[in-house]
Amino acid sequence: MGRAAAPRFSPEPMTDDRVIERPDLFTLRGRYPGELLLAFRRDPLALLDRLTASGAHVARLRAGPRWVAAVGSPEAARELLVERETDLVRGRALVMTEFLLGDGLLTDSGEAHREARRRLAPAFSRQRLDALGARIASRANALAEEWIARGRVDAEWEMRRLSLHIAADVLFGYSLASGERNAILGALDAALPLFGRTFNPLADILNRLPTPGTRRLLRARARLWRTTDAILHARRQRRDERGDVLGHLLAWEREGGLSPEATRGQALQLLAAGHETTGAGLAFALDDLARHPEWQERIASGADDTTGGGETARRVFAESMRHRPPAWVASREAVRDTTLAGVPLARGTVVLMSPWVLGREPRLWRDPARFDPDRFALEATAERHRFAYLPFSAGRHGCLAERLAWMEGEQVLSALMARIRLAPVSPFPGLAARTTLRPSGPVWLDVRTT
Ligand code: HEM
Repeated sequence: MGRAAAPRFSPEPMTDDRVIERPDLFTLRGRYPGELLLAFRRDPLALLDRLTASGAHVARLRAGPRWVAAVGSPEAARELLVERETDLVRGRALVMTEFLLGDGLLTDSGEAHREARRRLAPAFSRQRLDALGARIASRANALAEEWIARGRVDAEWEMRRLSLHIAADVLFGYSLASGERNAILGALDAALPLFGRTFNPLADILNRLPTPGTRRLLRARARLWRTTDAILHARRQRRDERGDVLGHLLAWEREGGLSPEATRGQALQLLAAGHETTGAGLAFALDDLARHPEWQERIASGADDTTGGGETARRVFAESMRHRPPAWVASREAVRDTTLAGVPLARGTVVLMSPWVLGREPRLWRDPARFDPDRFALEATAERHRFAYLPFSAGRHGCLAERLAWMEGEQVLSALMARIRLAPVSPFPGLAARTTLRPSGPVWLDVRTT
């Protein structure tokens, strides 16, 4: 299904707070000053839905002195992420990430960013990752045995923990001790509430004032930096030259291209980016499987796996990320006056691309509320606009490790379904849209052996 030619809009205001200005542009206005900001704080996904419900290519609202826009169609997403990537850059959305983790690929721009991608891309090549598949599967096997013994598990915590171990192993060739794992997960959790500062124009100043929040942030940062430094130190001592991410970073450091702090920033950003999203994506997929047991059987039977891989598991992971995308929003900022889908955008406008919005758009997905992994059968995918499905974004900042994430999804779901079956214990706790989209509480599942 492609996008219908005519945007879905009404020439009349749809409610008193909505004004349609032109077919491709929709403006959402608050009923009182600050209403939209409050709505965003309370429930960003609901505000995004409200903003993009008109079906216009671009929808916008006023947030204090600046406009915030969101793309509502694959065409506009493509223009944002690929065609206008020099007018619309990543901007300040990751100000808190940078403060907490240091500089790295997630926050670099310009030549530094290009160089980092060029340097690190080989660590994510198909050849290298193929060799790691069996290691990931064996970790998931061991986990299945542990779960059978326990009988009931919290999929949210279990998948975050597993993803962190896999990330440390794949990126750094390092086996995290449980104390190190808890230090990292605990510090990231402690820092999370402070990420609300991202939307505060005074964030840089607040981060320098000794407020209780800043002190908490600095404590979390010290733990993260200490733990990462210990991992880096152990590897520098060993002086082995492996082709993993850390091998590439340390070679770059030896050539004088990275200071030790820059190496730490790159490593820590990758470790953070490499487990939060994957962990959430896998937790959502396990919850979906628990609620749709027929798909557990289909993965286990390998019915669709004509090519020998985890094809059914891939479809399930893809469908889970369609309706609950772990990276729920990517943001860009106009560095000069520009246009998007013919709509003029003033310099300073923040533009959001949300796979949450695109993944639930009824013109792109038949019956979007239904869980149907067969939407991702190859034939169905070929008919769709490539930018209708963007859980990994696209363009120069698109996910560096998309291949690793798919492999992790396939391997973990296939390995678990070979050993166990899952059933939900209670309703899904709800969603928390923070730096990533996560379950807002534990996702308890009952485990039984096959
Ligand atoms: C299901 C898992 C994952 C999802 C949904 C995901 C999603 C994304 C998205 C949407 C972006 C782009 C944001 C933007 O356009 O501004 C991104 C960027 C990035 N991701 Fe992932 N990611 C996942 C796993 C990983 C893993 C496992 C790693 C590393 C080991 C990783 C490393 C990165 C890096 C370094 C970037 C920044 C790329 C750049 O700016 O050049 N991601 N990811």
